[in-house]
Amino acid sequence: MAILNILHFPDPRLRNKAQVVKTFDADLRKLAADMLETMYQAPGIGLASIQVNDPRRLVVIDVSENHDDPLCLVNPVILEKHGEHKMDEGCLSVPGVFEPVVRATDIKVRAQNLDGETIEFAADDLLAVCIQHELDHLEGKLFIDNLSNLKRQRIRKKLEKESRQGQPEAAGQAL
Ligand code: NI
Repeated sequence: MAILNILHFPDPRLRNKAQVVKTFDADLRKLAADMLETMYQAPGIGLASIQVNDPRRLVVIDVSENHDDPLCLVNPVILEKHGEHKMDEGCLSVPGVFEPVVRATDIKVRAQNLDGETIEFAADDLLAVCIQHELDHLEGKLFIDNLSNLKRQRIRKKLEKESRQGQPEAAGQAL
């Protein structure tokens, strides 16, 4: 396994859209394993392929307390959304920034596993938030897109300054 480089806002490659995965092979499993290792090391609770500059439609998530319950979703789609709540989110591509985002509280998801088998399940709480956040990444969207331009400019300057200093602020629970 390998630690992958996580792109940071405002890298334009974070705006790329992921492509549907049609080949379920060893290379896809390697990407998932590398993404999980990268996410755990960061540390974070979710990571999307676009964040590591890979075009395949894949997200990895682990919201368990002991970080021992990894979930790999290939070609995920949200079938249903219910309820609404606002929660502070962070992102491994926007280190050190936490802002409230409105998301659905309960969702129904369809995806494929790494063997290409279709799975369907319901998710709520943090897992539902995390899945919605990661799916946005696959569409080239970031959680800070909903903030005002002024606020986004401030975040951009802060990250560019930290990047020049070579030491981005450590993230808390980042998705
Ligand atoms: Ni993120």
